[in-house]
Amino acid sequence: MKKYLVIGNPIDHSLSPRLHNYWFKENNIKAVYEKKQVQETDLEGIISDVRDGKIEGINVTVPFKKSVIPFLDKLEIPEKSQSVNTIYREKSNITGSCKIIGRNTDILGFKNSLEHIKYNIKGKKIFILGAGGVTSSIIYALEEMEPSIIMLTNRTKEKAENLKKLFPRLKLVKWGDIENFDMVINTTSLGLRENDKIPLKYDEIGSDKFFYDVIYNPKKTNFLLEAEKRGHQVENGKMMFVYQAQEAFRLWTIAPNERSGLLPSINKKVLQLLEND
Ligand code: ATR
Repeated sequence: MKKYLVIGNPIDHSLSPRLHNYWFKENNIKAVYEKKQVQETDLEGIISDVRDGKIEGINVTVPFKKSVIPFLDKLEIPEKSQSVNTIYREKSNITGSCKIIGRNTDILGFKNSLEHIKYNIKGKKIFILGAGGVTSSIIYALEEMEPSIIMLTNRTKEKAENLKKLFPRLKLVKWGDIENFDMVINTTSLGLRENDKIPLKYDEIGSDKFFYDVIYNPKKTNFLLEAEKRGHQVENGKMMFVYQAQEAFRLWTIAPNERSGLLPSINKKVLQLLEND
């Protein structure tokens, strides 16, 4: 039985096992996908389990998407994203040696989630809240979709400034201030807990904006509830989550001498899996 893992801390909330185990079954693949809470000091050992064939593939979540990087042999990610969420072993046809590859499927996940709802970024003014682990993937994806401007605000100014070094076109905004925008994206962890509130002046935002929250559990954060009350369009991170998982599954099922892999289904039944507790 092949073994796959999602690692993070905390990890209890992760719905990745439900999704991947369903897809393994659907595709008649004898594999099991589990979640494991780990510490920074466990990373090297777990990645060598991939090298040794004890584990086939790993998904990485908060807060290790950057800290796994030093233990990998080859990064197939845009350098600016600084983030790996999918790991697997690749065997060379010529030498027979193994390499551990790190990929980023969050970028495609975010893009596909917008395509899914047919929201076109081109020419739009985007306002990002936060400068955490997933933010660089989101900025990278957005830049490819040609918005007119990307603005970013973060409580800790230094982290926003670090992102600006990677993405010089970013316009930084003081935490608590707002700018005129078409779409606002919450990439902070504020909203994971029921009482979390983002200090946004909701009544000064105007109308008909698009509020996107990377968080999908809870389904509606206070950020989305406040927006909905005022008639804005809202979207949570569920489809981004599903599409990043779909791409990870595809990468894991690429057979030797083949490029495409299996793209598992995303349908009502799959989405339903993520609804019940
Ligand atoms: P990491 O920063 O380790 O990658 P993360 O969960 O990916 O962790 O990101 C946390 C994000 O949520 C950061 O943008 C963080 O802001 P800081 O850089 O100022 O820490 C933001 N965040 C978390 N709690 C917050 C709070 N109480 N108020 C404002 N922003 C908060």
